[in-house]
Amino acid sequence: MSLRAVELIARKRDGGALTPAEIRDLVAGYTRGDVPDYQMAAFAMAVLFRGMDDAETAALLDAMQHSGDVVTWDHLDRPTADKHSTGGVGDKVSIPLAPAVAACGVAVPMISGRGLGHTGGTLDKLEAIPGFDVRLDLASFARITAEVGTCLIGQTDRICPADRKLYALRDVTATIESIPLIVASILSKKLAEGAGSLVLDVKVGSGAFMKDRADALRLAQAMVRAAQAAGRNCTALLTAMDRPTGTHIGNALEIAESIEVLRGGGPADTRALVVRMGGEMLRLAGVVADLAGGEARIARALEDGSALDRFARLVRAQKGDARVCDDPWAVLPRAPIVREVRAQRSGTVARLDALQVGLAAVRLGAGRDRASDDVDPAVGFVLLHRPGAVVRVGERLALVHGRDPGRTERAVAELGAAFEVDEGPADGLPLWIDVVQ
Ligand code: URA
Repeated sequence: MSLRAVELIARKRDGGALTPAEIRDLVAGYTRGDVPDYQMAAFAMAVLFRGMDDAETAALLDAMQHSGDVVTWDHLDRPTADKHSTGGVGDKVSIPLAPAVAACGVAVPMISGRGLGHTGGTLDKLEAIPGFDVRLDLASFARITAEVGTCLIGQTDRICPADRKLYALRDVTATIESIPLIVASILSKKLAEGAGSLVLDVKVGSGAFMKDRADALRLAQAMVRAAQAAGRNCTALLTAMDRPTGTHIGNALEIAESIEVLRGGGPADTRALVVRMGGEMLRLAGVVADLAGGEARIARALEDGSALDRFARLVRAQKGDARVCDDPWAVLPRAPIVREVRAQRSGTVARLDALQVGLAAVRLGAGRDRASDDVDPAVGFVLLHRPGAVVRVGERLALVHGRDPGRTERAVAELGAAFEVDEGPADGLPLWIDVVQ
C-alpha cells in the first residue's frame, strides 16, 4: 500500500480525483498502520490545497465512518435524532436539548466531545455533576438510550478510529482547515452513532471554529449535502458566536444554567437555541408536521417538567447525583472565591468578545490548552449584563468564580477587558444567521 499511496498523494497534489475504492484503501491502510503518518499528512495537505469533489468527500466520509463500529437503532420503537455544534463559548445547548427531545418521543443517542482551547465540551460539563459517567461502552449506550430515550457519552476507541488518528495528525500538520476533511471528520462520528436525523449548529464569530460567515456557510452546505447523500435527514443552522451563549461559562455553572432552561427559564438565547434545534429535530424525525409544531412541543416539555424529569432519569442512569435537578448548588462544586467585574464607564455594552471570554476562562482553569490537561469544574463566569444592556459606571457586569487568588484577579481584568462599553448600540451578529437544508 505504501508505494501506491505515493501515487494517490501525487494525483491529489496535481489536482486529480481519486476513486471511492482508492480512498477506501488509503483510509483502511492508514487505520491498520500500513500507511504511515508522513504519507497521510502529505495526503491531507494535498487535499487542503486541491479540495475534493462531492463524490470523493462522500467516499472519505464512508471510509472513516466504517473504520470502526457503526451503531444502528432499527430495534427502537422511536425515531432517532442528534445535534452537533461546531462549538463555542458557553454553548451548553446539548444538555437541556437531549432530554427535551427525548421527552417528545424522539431518541437522542449522543456522542460528545471535550473542551479544547477556548471552546467548552459537553462531556466536561456533565462530569461537573458528581458521579456522572460519560465513559460508557456501546452496550450501555444502547441500553440507556432505549430505556431513557437519551444517553450522552464520549467517543470510544471503537467509533471511527480512522478519524481519531487523522484528526490528531491534522492538528500538528496545519491541515485542520480543509472543508472536505472537516466534513468527513465531523460527520463520520455522527453517522457512526447511527441517528436517523441530524441538526448541525454551525457557529459564526470570534469564538467559533469558523470566524467568517461565508466560510461557515460553505462548511454548512458541504455537511448538509454529504449527510443527505449518506441517507440522513439534515439541517444546518448558522448561529452567532461573536459573544458567549447564555450567561454562565464554566462547567458546573453551565449545568446550573441548563437546569434553569429545563425548568422553563434560563437566558433567552440558550432557551431559543434549545427550542429551535429541538423543534427541527422533531420535524426531521417526522413526529411533527412542521417546525412551529416542533418548537411548541419542545417549549411545552420545558414548561411542564417532562424535559427536567427526563434529565433526572438520564443523570441517574449515568450514575450521577440526580439531586442536581432539584437543588443544583447542593451538589455542584462551588469555587471558593467570587469577585466582581465592574463597568469602567457608563453606556451600552456594545460587544463582549467570545474568544476573549473563552481564553480568560481557560486561563482561570475552566478549560484546557492541551487534551491531557485537567479542568476545574467549579470555576468560571456569570455574566450579569450582555451586549445591548445599558450600564452605569461602577455597576457590576459579571462575577468571576475562581480558586486560585492570582488567577482569579487576572480573570477579573481579562473579563473586564472583553466588555466594550460605549455610546452606540450593540453591533453583534443576529442569533439566527442562516439555514441550510
Ligand atoms: N471537529 C472535528 O471533529 N473534526 C474537524 O475536522 C474539525 C472539528
